[in-house]
Amino acid sequence: MKEHVPVMVNEVLAALMPWEEVKIAVDATLGLGGHTGSILSNCKGAHVIGFDQDPFARKIAQDNLSQYSGRFEIEADNFRHIEKLKDRPGWRGASAVLFDLGISNMQITESERGFSFQEEGPLDMRMDAAEGTNSELTAKEILDSWSIKELTEVFRKYGEEQYAYQIAKGIVRNREAGESIVTTGDLVELIRKILPAPVQRKMGGHPARKIFQALRIAVNDEMNALEEALDGSLKILAPGGKIIAISYHSLEDRIVKTRFRKWQEEGLGRARPRKAITPSETEIENNHKSRSAKLRIFESERKIIRKGDKDDAIHRMPT
Ligand SMILES: C[S@@+](CC[C@H](N)C(=O)[O-])C[C@H]1O[C@@H](n2cnc3c(N)ncnc32)[C@H](O)[C@@H]1O
Repeated sequence: MKEHVPVMVNEVLAALMPWEEVKIAVDATLGLGGHTGSILSNCKGAHVIGFDQDPFARKIAQDNLSQYSGRFEIEADNFRHIEKLKDRPGWRGASAVLFDLGISNMQITESERGFSFQEEGPLDMRMDAAEGTNSELTAKEILDSWSIKELTEVFRKYGEEQYAYQIAKGIVRNREAGESIVTTGDLVELIRKILPAPVQRKMGGHPARKIFQALRIAVNDEMNALEEALDGSLKILAPGGKIIAISYHSLEDRIVKTRFRKWQEEGLGRARPRKAITPSETEIENNHKSRSAKLRIFESERKIIRKGDKDDAIHRMPT
């Protein structure tokens, strides 16, 4: 059975307290069902709606969660459409929406998905890649057709790669010379050829790590999807409901932090605690993936009395 060790699960469960009040929880990133399983086992009255755009993940989650059958349902959709839950008949709002961003270990290690610079595979990187896939843009398409300027921008913006221009130029020169990059291994090899050895030594991590991250974010339009999903989440929360977001790199965390701050300023609720929570040392030792995790919680206002509402306490929902 494929499983995913859920990151910061104790902190997520603590944020959900009191557990008996959790009625509907939305797991925006169901993955293999790790967090959802913990929510269902601790919050006895909870029903979970889990989104995932990856058909392989959904299939495994369905199996992993079979003991909770009837208490969860799976939405085969991108979480950017989370707001659609509001249109369900009788929708009364979610007690919590959880985001555990990025990709799962399963997606990384399945070489045919092309996410890993350590596995040989096609340069695909679509999270929703499957028969009848929704999106057509693959990492290969980007590498084959985007200009130096476009590639540099993506590598800089989504990979925060210091050598973005050099790598972009090398990729386009390689293309102009009639060489094509077909596999993840080809791309890693090319990056190693482009960057002088002393630069690679200075980089700390793997020289292709940030380029792979940048391509994955671009292929899946991850940053726009996250912004839309956060805004949608606020609209589907019940009064006093919480958005819990775990991010793994500064770009995602910045989006979450900025949104929460803006909403707080608008009086829509509070970011609690004010700063991000990070994993314990023990968790980092036991689960390497958690080392870069940052968890933020936003709690929507329970009741806001608007001017003129007199005694009618009205929860202010953004429109
Ligand atoms: C880090 S994993 C989640 C693991 C999960 N919390 C668990 O414990 O098993 C992230 C999951 O979110 C999914 N995902 C990422 N972006 C998404 C999006 N925009 N819409 C829907 N699912 C998405 C990925 O396919 C992946 O399965």
